[in-house]
Amino acid sequence: MSTDTKQANSKNGKLLVLTPGLGAISTTFIAGVESIRRGLAKPIGSLTQMQTIRLGQRSEKRNPLIKDFVNLTPLEKLEFGAWDVIEDNAYEAAKLANVLKVEDLEPVADFMKEIEPMSAVFNQDYVKRLNGPNVKKQTNKMELAEALREDIRNKMKETGSERAVMIWCGSTEVFQHPSECHSTIEAFEQGLKDNDKAIAPSQIYAYAAIKEGVPYANGAPNLSADFKALEQLAHNNGVPIAGKDFKTGQTLMKTILAPGFKSRMLGIEGWFSTNILGNRDGEILDDPDSFRAKEVSKSGVLDTILQPELYPDLYENLYHKVRINYYPPRGDEKEGWDNIDIVGWMEYPMQIKVDFLCRDSILAAPLVLDLALLLDLAKRSGQSGIQEWLSFYFKSPQVVEGHIQEHDIFIQHFRLKNTLRILGGEKPLTHLSENFDGSH
Ligand SMILES: NC(=O)c1ccc[n+]([C@@H]2O[C@H](COP(=O)([O-])OP(=O)(O)OC[C@H]3O[C@@H](n4cnc5c(N)ncnc54)[C@H](O)[C@@H]3O)[C@@H](O)[C@H]2O)c1
Repeated sequence: MSTDTKQANSKNGKLLVLTPGLGAISTTFIAGVESIRRGLAKPIGSLTQMQTIRLGQRSEKRNPLIKDFVNLTPLEKLEFGAWDVIEDNAYEAAKLANVLKVEDLEPVADFMKEIEPMSAVFNQDYVKRLNGPNVKKQTNKMELAEALREDIRNKMKETGSERAVMIWCGSTEVFQHPSECHSTIEAFEQGLKDNDKAIAPSQIYAYAAIKEGVPYANGAPNLSADFKALEQLAHNNGVPIAGKDFKTGQTLMKTILAPGFKSRMLGIEGWFSTNILGNRDGEILDDPDSFRAKEVSKSGVLDTILQPELYPDLYENLYHKVRINYYPPRGDEKEGWDNIDIVGWMEYPMQIKVDFLCRDSILAAPLVLDLALLLDLAKRSGQSGIQEWLSFYFKSPQVVEGHIQEHDIFIQHFRLKNTLRILGGEKPLTHLSENFDGSH
């Protein structure tokens, strides 16, 4: 990113947050935003709402909130729209997801009941363990894309929104590699017209968003906007995109812990991760093809953090295994176990056990909010294409071809904040001591 980035323009109009998928994450996100607006909750877990940013030298004591420093859209200006194959409104869907307690959902029930899902672009070949009636009837993929574009325009009009962003909160689609139709914009558009089997529903949503100038992020691990055709289209149309797979529970822990072990030059022989979860996401991931997408997205993390090619003595033989088990009694309250076999001085072995009793959607909801606001900021600042500085939020960060994914959460965080400093017209920080860099 160049340092002469345009200052973000207008944030006064309303911002429409569109989510394909009105399930556990999106309803927890929407209910949370409305509860915060009504003074009933705090935006815990959201950098855009709670974190400060240091500007200049420490002695200057300039530490504004991020949201004030870069002029993010205030929560009061957010509107919501969603698509789902299931007809439940946001209130009914939230009740079914069973993430929020009755006493937290009821005070915003009136608001949630107003949010009805638009009919979805859906094909069961891509999500085997899901079916529902609220599906668009067109059979041609280009017509489906046109229908989504019309939905976006209508929803913006209906809500009086000036701008929109789209965050994929739909189910995980089956694993796929990019095909011929994903290689160029022309091939992709031809594929839409020809109903190419390789074009999944999430890709049609991403295409529709980018064509409408709406920034797009993918919260799931499936191929959606992370191939050449849509990357090029996003770049050409001045649309920021980001992905993929929200970094929540176990991978969040992994990317916090692994950089710590590496910084102290402790070896790791094995890292076994297993999960039990019982929400609809868990049920869908019980299908081997959907699980494969998740497995691939979760497994790249350790290699790039630990760099076994540079540290063969410490990490060359690391055995990394990830398991996800669908276990209905747990619902959204997942349990993630990690057994880490580490090695110290004179190769003495040690073990670390992590048992994270987490709540998936509670961890994911603030990420949806931050991504919506930061992608909108990126668009208003004249950024386009892949936004690598948002890697902080993803398990498998989307990067420009030839770039290496960064998984270390501390480096990701540093990069995110320095990008914000630049977008806000300030100098990036180096964290060198003020005497050392001679600036004092
Ligand atoms: N919760 C987390 O911590 C977390 C972390 C990373 C990624 N994810 C991913 O985020 C996604 C959403 O998770 P969730 O817990 O809300 O799942 P969920 O099953 O509760 O909700 C997903 C919703 O998407 C709908 N859907 C599926 N295909 C659709 C389509 N083509 N168009 C419109 N709607 C569609 C489903 O009907 C469902 O209501 C999943 O793909 C999940 O793997 C979740």
